[in-house]
Amino acid sequence: MRSIIDILDLSVAELDELLAVATDIIAQPDQYRDACAHKKLATLFFEPSTRTRLSFEAAMYELGGNVLSVTGGATSSVAKGESIADTAKTVSCYADIIAMRHPKEGAALVAARNASIPVINAGDGGHCHPTQTLADLLTIYREKGGFDGLTIGLCGDLKFGRTVHSLINAMSRYHNIRFILVSPQELKLPSYVKNDTLKKYGLPYTQTTDLQELLPEMDVLYMTRVQRERFFNEEDYLRLKDTYILTPDKLRNAKQDLCIMHPLPRVNEISVAIDDDPRACYFKQVLNGKYMRMALILKLLKEAAL
Ligand code: NCD
Repeated sequence: MRSIIDILDLSVAELDELLAVATDIIAQPDQYRDACAHKKLATLFFEPSTRTRLSFEAAMYELGGNVLSVTGGATSSVAKGESIADTAKTVSCYADIIAMRHPKEGAALVAARNASIPVINAGDGGHCHPTQTLADLLTIYREKGGFDGLTIGLCGDLKFGRTVHSLINAMSRYHNIRFILVSPQELKLPSYVKNDTLKKYGLPYTQTTDLQELLPEMDVLYMTRVQRERFFNEEDYLRLKDTYILTPDKLRNAKQDLCIMHPLPRVNEISVAIDDDPRACYFKQVLNGKYMRMALILKLLKEAAL
């Protein structure tokens, strides 16, 4: 059974196919209204979420399907000590596909190994978040017309930010990509992402603590929230949380066609004064996430029926 745990579970050709389907859904949504009729998506979310869960659920409804939902461990048998494996086997009896978010790295993989239906990782701890990357890719594709030759700045919590890890993995497969990694020393990109992706494929990257310095070179600026829930102590979080705050004056030397992204939720990282700037793309990402999740659900359910 095909599950999507990591963005690298999808080939570049499959990403192209998902982008094409999402683009078609945007152009003619009525053609997809019954595409998943009588099918059920189970959303199992053991961590807070607004966009990811609701966009999965909206995606399934727009495909004519139905949704079963567990939110927060407290109201499910997980609170009684049920394992992820048993939960996955159980949900497989009721639903046709699962989207799962869990605070533990690897949780979605365990679910996938035990489920008899496709599992989509909707975020596993500080590890990865492939469907946010699908939203990010559609946004970059629509804003920039493609992926090759881009200089991508990633700023904030590069250590715990799972969306950053998945986006770097996805972008590493396109041509002439360069990364500018902006973070405090303590929140640098984990060495496994550096070794397994950036160094392995010889991708050029610059690490810096200064956002201003290389901002004029960026085509995309991906801001992120400092991931409070993954910190071991509150003091460190408080010290680091406002390291980078993007304000209109800081954009003075940025490119006119810069694409400013953020997976959201934002805390303080981007001033609301930037929201009306045509370069602000973070609410476009939110909408694009629904279209890409529609395309992914369709694809996995089609494959499961073969
Ligand atoms: C992100 C996440 O959950 O990793 N949010 C999201 O899914 N859009 C980013 C974050 O929580 O900071």
